[in-house]
Amino acid sequence: MRKIITALLVVMVTAGCAFSEPLKLPAHDKASDMTLVDALTFRRSDRNFAEGDFTPQELANLLWAAGGVNRPDGKLVYPVAMGKQDTTIYVFTHEGVFKYDPKENTLELVAEGDHRAETGKQDFVAKAAVNLAYVHDVSLWEDMKAPAELVQRWGFAHTGAIMQNVYLYCAAMGWNCVVRGSFDAENLAKLMKLSPSQNITLIQTVGKRPQN
Ligand SMILES: Cc1cc2nc3c(=O)[nH]c(=O)nc-3n(C[C@H](O)[C@H](O)[C@H](O)COP(=O)(O)O)c2cc1C
Repeated sequence: MRKIITALLVVMVTAGCAFSEPLKLPAHDKASDMTLVDALTFRRSDRNFAEGDFTPQELANLLWAAGGVNRPDGKLVYPVAMGKQDTTIYVFTHEGVFKYDPKENTLELVAEGDHRAETGKQDFVAKAAVNLAYVHDVSLWEDMKAPAELVQRWGFAHTGAIMQNVYLYCAAMGWNCVVRGSFDAENLAKLMKLSPSQNITLIQTVGKRPQN
């Protein structure tokens, strides 16, 4: 199985980039012909995962489906209140923790090493290819004078949309996933170098199905 950093690093070295720069993902491609109605029919939580990574292309496709840009003006595959893109997707792979930038289609390394097991107490979190942590940042609303309670509610709406995008994409790809509300938010915030204005709303474990 190709390693994501290694594969992306080859691309970067070829392009003359330094490793400290964000890793450029491939453009997403159309990887499934399943209809939306079929994806809705097959959507479910499944906690059985095969070991092994996603390829860079598979990861790029997953992240685009979760929260990528789908129009030239930079708007996303899910709707956001008052146009505020206040939710960021962090990716835990066996190689590190990365921050997804949908506009640049890049992954920024936040912490090196395999921290998947730290995303939850359930055994499967360390086995599945990735755990996606959804992080809501209230600081983006400071200029708006919106009530804090409203900003929180809208943030959860954004996470809900991302989470369902991932469920449907997994159904379309024949992958498994489960969203999780139980995790050690305090320790993860330290690892992910989050500021006090950033909160992890949910984490979603995603990976391929085990072969029978
Ligand atoms: C907000 C939220 C939190 C959840 N937390 C967990 C969790 O911590 N661990 C887990 O295994 N499943 C968790 N789930 C998944 C639910 O258990 C699952 O969605 C539910 O059993 C219904 O099954 P389905 O998704 O297959 O329809 C969570 C789901 C939601 C929406």
